[in-house]
Amino acid sequence: MRTEVSFAPLPEIATELLAVLAVDMQPEKGAGAKPGPTLLTDDSAVQAAAAVALASGEYKAGVNETVLIHRPEGLAARRLLIVGLGKQGKVSLQSVRNAAGTAIRFAKPRGIKELALVLPWSQILPAAGAARSAAEGAFIGDFDPDTYRSDRKDQSVRSFTLAARDGVDRAAVEAAFAEGVIVGESQNFARLLVNEPGNKLTPTILGQRTAEMAQKVGLECEVHSTEKLHELKMGAFWSVSQGSAESPALIVLRYMPEGVTDGPVLGLVGKGITFDAGGISIKPADNMEKMKYDMAGGAAMIAAMRAIALLKPRVRVIAIVCAAENMPSGTAQKPGDVQTAMSGKTIEIINTDAEGRLVLADGLTYARLLGATHLIDAATLTGAISVALGKVTGGVFSNDDATYAKFESALQVSGEKFWRLPLGEEYADLIKSDIGDIKNTGGRWGGAIIAAEFLHHFAEDTPWIHLDIAGIAWVEDARPFIAKGPSGVAVRSILEWVRSY
Ligand code: BES
Ligand code: MN
Ligand code: ZN
Repeated sequence: MRTEVSFAPLPEIATELLAVLAVDMQPEKGAGAKPGPTLLTDDSAVQAAAAVALASGEYKAGVNETVLIHRPEGLAARRLLIVGLGKQGKVSLQSVRNAAGTAIRFAKPRGIKELALVLPWSQILPAAGAARSAAEGAFIGDFDPDTYRSDRKDQSVRSFTLAARDGVDRAAVEAAFAEGVIVGESQNFARLLVNEPGNKLTPTILGQRTAEMAQKVGLECEVHSTEKLHELKMGAFWSVSQGSAESPALIVLRYMPEGVTDGPVLGLVGKGITFDAGGISIKPADNMEKMKYDMAGGAAMIAAMRAIALLKPRVRVIAIVCAAENMPSGTAQKPGDVQTAMSGKTIEIINTDAEGRLVLADGLTYARLLGATHLIDAATLTGAISVALGKVTGGVFSNDDATYAKFESALQVSGEKFWRLPLGEEYADLIKSDIGDIKNTGGRWGGAIIAAEFLHHFAEDTPWIHLDIAGIAWVEDARPFIAKGPSGVAVRSILEWVRSY
């Protein structure tokens, strides 16, 4: 998708579709302004063209509610689309992100290939933030997962213009918009990877795709396999891959900005299970096909590194993705097996389907060995996190309040929803093993917390954040602003967390 910022007067913008945002205004008593749907532009031609629709009472400017006006009088645009942000008091940059996505997803099935979105009034929304959010939302909206349909029509929008007006800081708006393009494209890169089925994206292929991306954006990339796992004594990671005919991939990305020789080294660790059949503790057939998205945490890290390489924060970052298939076979590990992790800890395998924590255990240890001073991991780790938080909010865990505080601030910018859950000795007690140091499952209750406590054994006292995205990595039902399929969640939050250092 081509993108640009235009400062031309709105009536002169010749485009297939001009989209303008509206809020449901609820002025305080005596404040003068009229209640009801109100456009977030002071352009009188646009207001005149929209006046009849707004006065009709049919349109309430509800969240992502749209109304289309053909051949709007006085405008060079062929269509005018009004996109609602909902009640004025509840409007945020997330509303702008979603509205931009809604405009794009309105255009796509109608064969509309170019559109311009009017930057909303800066009295209500900060101009730079809105510009960035609009770009992100446009890319997010443009993504569709129909890669392998032979009747696939390429309905992607060719050109997206942000129409900004006088009175804004042009350089700031342009820079923020360019940033949003990078972030949106990166989030879609994660979604592209997550969308691939297991046969098209094996651990080896994930390594290749990552290396190609790294080459393009100038990141150092190494992809190792079985031999390196043995050399590093990654017994936990290897134990997951041993049941599959596909070789594991240990993917390492490094971002080392010139001149930065001290300060923190951030370690990003992602679960990259390209298919999770459960191993010998095999999963039921229902919904097993979904387990191709069990590499969404790894994809989030790879995509965040893409954005980092392009946005160039002044901090060193290493990413490690532990990619493997979890399969049942004659060579697969068995319940009762004891594995020695890279850290030296012994793990009793109770359930081979609790494999994510095994690969991450060695990933976290390796990140620390490579010098990471702060860790963040992302994983589709447990079904239990969806029981706790539904398909709406991700789980976040941390052993360090200061590090968590930075993540919480990052959420303000990313607009993503995560909720902190506790760690605690009482949970850790549940994974003590009789035969070894720890076991890989700890009973039915608090499953997401127990999984986090398992990882805690390997993060140890290094400041660490764990994101359980099992409930939110896949959009189950299409929304006006995003297709059903991979969400690309966590890319934006991880990026902002990194940029806060
Ligand atoms: N990949 C799954 C978790 C998952 C479930 C992700 C649903 C996305 C949607 C993970 O490897 C797993 O199987 N976890 C088990 C752990 C259990 C055996 C302790 C689970 O959640 O059932
Ligand atoms: Mn599993
Ligand atoms: Zn899994």
